[in-house]
Amino acid sequence: MCGIVAYTGYRNAYPVILKGLKRLEYRGYDSAGVALLNGSLQVYKKQGKVNDLEEKLHELALHGHTGIGHTRWATHGEPNDVNAHPHFSSNNTIVLIHNGIIENYAVIKEDLLNKGYSFRSETDSEVLATFIEDIYTHTKTNLEEATRLALQKVVGAYAIVVMAVEEPGTLVAARKGSPLVIGIGKDEYFVASDATPIIEYTNEVVYLDDHEIAVIKDKTLSIRNLDSISKRPYIHKLDLELEAIEKGGFEHFMLKEIFEQPKSVADSMRGRIKASTGTLQLGGLTEYFNRLLSADRMVFVACGTSWHAGLVAEYLFEELARIPVEVEYASEFRYRNPIIRENDVVIAISQSGETADTLAAIELAKSKGAIIFGICNSVGSSIPRATHAGAYIHAGPEIGVASTKAFTGQITVLTMMALLIAYRKGTISERTYRKILVELELIPSKIAEALKLNEQIKYIADEFKDARNFLYLGRGYNFPVALEGALKLKEISYIHAEGYPAAEMKHGPIALIDEEMPVVVIATDDSSYEKIVSNIQEVKARKGKVIAIVTEGDTLIKKMADFVIEIPKTHEALVPLISVIPLQLLSYHIAVLRGCNVDQPRNLAKSVTVE
Ligand code: G6P
Repeated sequence: MCGIVAYTGYRNAYPVILKGLKRLEYRGYDSAGVALLNGSLQVYKKQGKVNDLEEKLHELALHGHTGIGHTRWATHGEPNDVNAHPHFSSNNTIVLIHNGIIENYAVIKEDLLNKGYSFRSETDSEVLATFIEDIYTHTKTNLEEATRLALQKVVGAYAIVVMAVEEPGTLVAARKGSPLVIGIGKDEYFVASDATPIIEYTNEVVYLDDHEIAVIKDKTLSIRNLDSISKRPYIHKLDLELEAIEKGGFEHFMLKEIFEQPKSVADSMRGRIKASTGTLQLGGLTEYFNRLLSADRMVFVACGTSWHAGLVAEYLFEELARIPVEVEYASEFRYRNPIIRENDVVIAISQSGETADTLAAIELAKSKGAIIFGICNSVGSSIPRATHAGAYIHAGPEIGVASTKAFTGQITVLTMMALLIAYRKGTISERTYRKILVELELIPSKIAEALKLNEQIKYIADEFKDARNFLYLGRGYNFPVALEGALKLKEISYIHAEGYPAAEMKHGPIALIDEEMPVVVIATDDSSYEKIVSNIQEVKARKGKVIAIVTEGDTLIKKMADFVIEIPKTHEALVPLISVIPLQLLSYHIAVLRGCNVDQPRNLAKSVTVE
């Protein structure tokens, strides 16, 4: 949550920061602000989107070669101009941007109030700015040292960038639990929550680790930890194209990302499978692969859509690899004193690789001696660095807040993982193994087929755009897909929706069904087909409106359902990769027709770095 960006170099900082904030807006968008250092420190902030800030500032000639900017997702204090970042310290000599939560801010604030300081905002971040000022003034030290001393006393999570009026050209950045990337250009430096604001200027970056402070001063970068021990910056070469983070002619990032799935799923498999030779490999798992083979149990930890991918994995790993699986909300797992045994394997799933609860769940499992694997999208993010081994999904940057291509990428990688373990353990036959591999390779083209349903789905969306509730039903592999379909609709169209195992409907949700209630039933041709046909009849008997997702060529359900969406046939274990596509499109079109902001739904943020 919250995007931060900073610049120092020969360019005018404001346009660089503004563009960077637009790229980071997926992280939070309730207010935005910039601070520029040009002899004096000037701060401009505005409630609302980055565009609102730009509009407010468009007639001003803003100058300064060093500056910081922030786009906020509110934690402490409601979204308004005053609570927006950057925050001045009490005497306006220091200015700070912050992503995270300072948990002991109340104690620090009390102490500062007793010393006579006053505060303008309700934020924990302003307290930190003034805390740094207090140390800076009283110890007569420099900004780096004052920040370091302040952070030694801070409990909580942060990524911060600080500037001081007395130190032109200097940026001090630090992180603990929230991401920070430093871009190294020629005579210029960038700092940001992720690499997207940086890539058009340089592909050389340094990922800051927890408890580290980076100082950019006199055109040089130095890194120390909180105990002042210096570290040689390790420079990564970014492999990210500018077009990957632009809309490329689509109206919204979400639509672009839905349509990217034939490619992103192929990218998840690239170099990893070859059906013709029966080859399947996941390089990142090799070192710890024996632990996967000997696992007595697997525990998946994740949040949101990634948790739904974990549920699909439960079906895959239990059925194919015959390993018992638990799927845990990371936020519950971390506070439950869970039982982790020696032969358990924990698998963390996360698009961003930064979700605070998932990271905390990893740390907890580690402290209990578990081996942890990570399935992530964002390269170089915190989760891949906190886990023992893992596999990237390589879906490319996902910017729309509602996750789409990350979900299919996660399932693709988890399928390959389950298949590899199953094959090595001998829990599936060579024939089944080969058959699933062949089907897996065909998935990108079948997703492309499913995307051709876009116009039909738009039509259906128009029919149901004014519904107040939706029910999503599925069985087996399609049960998690029903949950995901309902989540997509809630997230972006603000229509209440529930996902349910179809058979459970009669234990409650059936009471909701009347002629007003659209029920999306995922009824593909698989082992529970007859059962789900009965569930459709139960809905129709109560006059519910059925939108059925069926396998191409289905004639039976056509006679019962109000709308039928036909998707290509595949192996039952791979169905979620295709059946989710119409649900993504349905939620997208309903949200657009309702005039909702699809890429930036209210109250949400893409990367949840607070608990
Ligand atoms: C937020 C996002 C969701 C995402 C969830 C978990 O709620 O809006 O789209 O599924 O976080 O995020 P992760 O990055 O860990 O997959």
